[in-house]
Amino acid sequence: MAAALLTGVLTLPPDRAIGARCAIGARCAIGARWDDASQSARFAHAKERGLLAYQEVNYPISAAEDPTATSLPILAHTSNNPVASIHGIDGRVAAKVKAGADASDSPWIGEHLSWLGYAETGALGYVLNPLLTDEFCEVSVANVAALRAYYGRPVALELGPFYSACNGDFASEMHFLGEVARRADTHIILDVTHWTISNRNLGRAEDYGLDALDADRVVELHVAGLRKSGSGSFWHDAHGLPVPDEVIAFTRALVKRFPKVRAITLEHSMEGSESDFYSGLERLGSAVS
Ligand SMILES: [Fe+2]
Repeated sequence: MAAALLTGVLTLPPDRAIGARCAIGARCAIGARWDDASQSARFAHAKERGLLAYQEVNYPISAAEDPTATSLPILAHTSNNPVASIHGIDGRVAAKVKAGADASDSPWIGEHLSWLGYAETGALGYVLNPLLTDEFCEVSVANVAALRAYYGRPVALELGPFYSACNGDFASEMHFLGEVARRADTHIILDVTHWTISNRNLGRAEDYGLDALDADRVVELHVAGLRKSGSGSFWHDAHGLPVPDEVIAFTRALVKRFPKVRAITLEHSMEGSESDFYSGLERLGSAVS
């Protein structure tokens, strides 16, 4: 039953597939994360230059924000649902995500495989990772099934960066993600920067864990800058920094390894320079064309 859903998504008609709108590569669209209207001028300029084929909107957004002003196709994403929490999903958040995805007919909705999301009582964020146990796996599979049924469209799961090995019943977070995705029969977003950060923080090989993912489930890659902490002990996400050459090189290799990748999303904040934003899109386009 669920296998049919997955197959259907991967064979979307060309006019609905994000990849068909790609301005650069034949197979993968290059897009960027959109958080608010302050980015829209950069997005419009990148679109004019043929660098940007879609925007990945992070829902929920303010009622005053209008991501359609850029006229770019929208891929829906959220990092606010606690997909790995036994307390389930906040319906108010999910309703806003669904409304955005429905309005744009997003081919899938990105969700973080995190324990706790954001709430009015405190922002704990997607870096609060699940314990890697069978119990968390079961809860995550059930939450993904509930979200997919509610959304009426596929879900693609993404991991946050890891700072310590929380191994319980699984060899790593990559094995946990692979198992949840398999049992929930759903898609995967591989955040290349998060994965690189986890590999460095945990002292693993730079290509660690790829075998744990079903290759055909990976439909999207995320890329961003990264930095070392002030103490020098840990690596972190850094959306204001340019994407390092090694992350671009990993992206090129991952597109070859995962044949169903349709979308590559640059995560670049307004703290970063405008020229870094355009050159990041150009470098990604060159890497996968
Ligand atoms: Fe990401």
